[in-house]
Amino acid sequence: MCIIDTQKNQLLKNLSVMKKITLFVLLLLGTRAFCADGPVPVYKNPKASIDARVEDLLKRMTLEEKILQLNQLTAGRNNNPNNIEGKDRDIPAGIGSLIYFGSEPGYRNLIQKKAMEQTRLGIPVIFGYDVIHGFRTVYPISLGQACSFNPQLVTEACKVAAKEARLSGVDWTFSPMIDVARDPRWGRVSEGYGEDPYTNAVFGVASVKGYQGKSLSDPYSVAACLKHYIGYGLSEGGRDYHYADVSPQSLWETYMPPYEAGVKAGAATIMSAFNDISGTPASANYYTLTEVLKNRWHFKGFVVSDWDAIQQLIAQGVAADRKEAGLKAFMAGVDMDMSDDIYPQNLKQLINEKKVPMSRVDDAVRRVLRLKFQLGLFDHPYVTVTDTTQRYLQPADKEAARKLAEESMVLLKNQEHILPLSTQTKQIAVIGPVANDGEDLIGNWSAHGRGADAETILGSLKKEYSNSNINYAKGCDFDGNNESGFEEAIAAAQKSDVIILCLGEKKSWTGENTSRSTIALPAVQEKLAAELKKTGKPIILILSNGRPLELMRLEPLASAIVEIWQPGVAGGSALANILSGRVNPSGKLSITFPLTTGQIPTYYDMRQAARPFSGKYQDIPTNPLYWFGHGLSYTTFSYGNIKLSSDKITKTQKLIAEVEVANTGSVNGKETVLWFISDPVASISRPMKELKYFEKKEIAAGQKTVYKFEIDPMRDLSFPDADGKRHLEGGDFYLMAGDQKVKFQLAD
Ligand code: NOJ
Repeated sequence: MCIIDTQKNQLLKNLSVMKKITLFVLLLLGTRAFCADGPVPVYKNPKASIDARVEDLLKRMTLEEKILQLNQLTAGRNNNPNNIEGKDRDIPAGIGSLIYFGSEPGYRNLIQKKAMEQTRLGIPVIFGYDVIHGFRTVYPISLGQACSFNPQLVTEACKVAAKEARLSGVDWTFSPMIDVARDPRWGRVSEGYGEDPYTNAVFGVASVKGYQGKSLSDPYSVAACLKHYIGYGLSEGGRDYHYADVSPQSLWETYMPPYEAGVKAGAATIMSAFNDISGTPASANYYTLTEVLKNRWHFKGFVVSDWDAIQQLIAQGVAADRKEAGLKAFMAGVDMDMSDDIYPQNLKQLINEKKVPMSRVDDAVRRVLRLKFQLGLFDHPYVTVTDTTQRYLQPADKEAARKLAEESMVLLKNQEHILPLSTQTKQIAVIGPVANDGEDLIGNWSAHGRGADAETILGSLKKEYSNSNINYAKGCDFDGNNESGFEEAIAAAQKSDVIILCLGEKKSWTGENTSRSTIALPAVQEKLAAELKKTGKPIILILSNGRPLELMRLEPLASAIVEIWQPGVAGGSALANILSGRVNPSGKLSITFPLTTGQIPTYYDMRQAARPFSGKYQDIPTNPLYWFGHGLSYTTFSYGNIKLSSDKITKTQKLIAEVEVANTGSVNGKETVLWFISDPVASISRPMKELKYFEKKEIAAGQKTVYKFEIDPMRDLSFPDADGKRHLEGGDFYLMAGDQKVKFQLAD
């Protein structure tokens, strides 16, 4: 039995004089904690500093014990050879980490007990899992979250996810994904915060705050993992796992900023990506992993490889075999091997051959141990076993998911103010494959979310429009060519005043390895819409999907369009509230909707073309259908002139910009002011405009409010070169907000 100094007084009373003397001597020696057989090791003393505990433990560990800390096994749901679910007896007691696909705290405790009690040093396992947009209380996919432009709501939702995860035995989430993505054919656009670097940075930080809370040691905090470092969003042709041609300039300008922000915000871990960066895979990239991340940014956490990313170095043509792959990844800076088992099989030999120095092993182990101490795993290794009814889907947590869903929905079109739709409407047709489907509303990577937990659109509309007759017909499936349901759908439409047509993507169409060659909806859905249009009844088109869609043929058929993304468990009521006007929509697009797939890539912060008015497509328009930032409201907002504290500043002066926005309509509404800056002449050509700040506020009908942006020249007017060095050059700049634009000068 061991005791620590809080228990000392009681013990002293009960001891003989001799023992008291012995204890006194130990105290004099500075020992603060004791075991029956001697002083408690520093690493086991919760009162010692984390650094002291890490160093103490490190010096007690054998090489084998160290290497085990750098390996991650998986438990469940796959055929990987090191998948050990259900065979906890075979799990080596000393493993460093486990991907825990389960949700039972009891099973986790069993594995943990083994690590704590059956190993020489009792080092706890860290349990990781992909908790991407909720654990059981699933909230909107990240692409939708970003459309809320409300980071506070995202922090709140991530707190819920963290709590449910921790109570289920998960200490570490592989989230947020902050890969800027501009090719909507890539299935993983759904997992990130859209096309803009700044938006990804803000929401990445918001989610880190939600997951990690005030302190990692809080019982409901989980460690976050920024992923996939770096350039993964650029997979060529939108094909997953494909080559990515990331130029050094775009690396620094577009892909790095969210990661730098996430590291500054204290994200505990980072995942190295699958893709190449100009011929060097991200998981073997010393420059990005060590030189930049660890040396320049002083990242103190650890880097975990993506699943199989080390083994894949062979396919990527930079390693001849598993041993070389391990050497390259480890020496580049990947601290933990996810699922490949390459480190345990090769590191010892690589050390003996003097290819890997012990200092590098110690550095990696130190990083892993530090997080385990920070999470409190040494002192509280087990999870209290609670009932699932206490753990999941608590009313306040669902409310957080609903609020976020409401603000993530984007009103793309609203002809003749057809929306909001009166709750006194007599007959409403609700049609389409999404209408009565919960499963797909929860989206991809939905952890332990269940379709059955999700409010369906149909169910929620029936509640919200309880005075109306709801005429439901599915019409067609998501894909295929079965049109046998069209007749019923047309009949439902014919007897209705309005059609709410719910189209979209299945959840399995986005996420990992789910690229599509076209971003149009399958022909059967488009045909259903065209047939319904012939009834002459107005169509309110509801879209649930995980990527921007090609709406060239659908948009003209609809009087109104609401993009709801994959909104999670509370998506049904969130949409019903918007349709009835109980909630005024306030989402704006975090990603551009091209008019057709052929326009890809198209994003707002492109560089100016050499011939700006030329270079157009001969067969399609050049402009996308909806730009980044597009989103309507049931009210109207009018922007006053932008006022500047000065029209000329020096490089060390701040510039205050203000714009007054008036709600000129008749209902209250929330408006997000997006502040863009453009730098028309620079030594490295700049994008036509770049988002630098945004703020969302509620403005009551008939009221005005002032939005303020404090421009810090170094932060907001400088730009990186191909090695990340920032340049601040004098000259003219433009500041834009809403339909307003103003010029100012930065002195040389
Ligand atoms: C592979 C995915 O790329 C990554 O995002 C995920 O976190 C890991 N698998 C673990 O599931």
